[in-house]
Amino acid sequence: MSLVNMTDMLKQAEEKNYAVGSFSVLNMEMIIGTIKAAEELKSPVMLQIAEGRLGYAPLALIGPMMLSAARAASVPVAVHLDHGLRVPTIKYALDLGFTSVMYDGSKVSLQDNIETTKQVIRLAWQYGATAEAEIGKVGGSEDGSEDLELMATPVEDAQRFYEETKVDALAVAIGNAHGVYKSAPQLQFDRLAKLDKVVGTALVLHGGSGITVEDFRKCIDLGIRKINVMTAALNRITAETKILAKEKPDFNYYDYTQCAVNAVYQNTKEHILAFRSENKA
Ligand code: 13P
Repeated sequence: MSLVNMTDMLKQAEEKNYAVGSFSVLNMEMIIGTIKAAEELKSPVMLQIAEGRLGYAPLALIGPMMLSAARAASVPVAVHLDHGLRVPTIKYALDLGFTSVMYDGSKVSLQDNIETTKQVIRLAWQYGATAEAEIGKVGGSEDGSEDLELMATPVEDAQRFYEETKVDALAVAIGNAHGVYKSAPQLQFDRLAKLDKVVGTALVLHGGSGITVEDFRKCIDLGIRKINVMTAALNRITAETKILAKEKPDFNYYDYTQCAVNAVYQNTKEHILAFRSENKA
C-alpha cells in the first residue's frame, strides 16, 4: 500500500472500469481530508499540486507533507506534480520523491510538446516515477491566469503524440475546463471515444469540478482513468466556513481547520463514489 506511482493504479482502473481521483491539495487540512476519505472508502487516490500553485504552497514544504501522508496511508497513494511547466521544477519534485509528474506542453507547438514530454518521461522513469502529458488545451486556467481558450484535442495529433512518446497518461480536452463552469459543460463524448481508440494509454480528464456524476460515468466508460479535482474542494471549504460562521459566530481557528478538513473529506468521498473507485484499494 501507501506511496506508489500511477502504473498499477491506472492498469487496475482500466481492468475494472473506474477512474482514480487526483485531488489537488494546498495545505495540511486538504491532505488530511483527502486521505481520510480514501482510507474510509478503501480507494486508491492521487494527491497533486500544480506548479502554478507553488507560490502559495512552496514545494519544499508541501511536497514532503504529501509524501509523508502517502507513506502512512492504508491505501495506495500516488504523489503527483500537476501541470509542470519547467523541467527544473519537475526534476525537483522527482528529487523530493514524487512518484508522478505532469509536463503541460499545451501552450507550445505539438513538436516541442513531444520533445519535452520525451525528456520528462525519460527523467521520470529514471526515478521509477510515471509521467502525464496534455494535448489540446483544457479550457479555463489551472494557475489563475485569464487564458480561457479551449482547443479540443485533435484525434490525429493525439495518436502521433502517443506513438512518439509512449507517455503513461494523457490529458485530453473534450469540452472540459478548469475552474467553475459558466454554463453546464458540453463534453464531446464522440471525440473521447475516438481518442480512446488511438491512444494506447490511460486518458485523463482535467477540470473535474462541476461535471455531473452521469457525465463522469460516461467518460469512464469511454476510457478516462484519472480525473483531476480542485475547485470543488476549495468551494466546499468556503461554503462550509460560511455555515460555521453563521452557526457559531465566535468560532476559533481550530473550529475553522476542522471545518476545512471535513469539507475536503466530504468532497473527496463524493467524487470517489462518482468515479467508482471505492473498495478498489
Ligand atoms: P478543477 O479545478 O476544475 O476541478 O480542475 C482541476 C484540475 O484539472 C487540476 O489539474
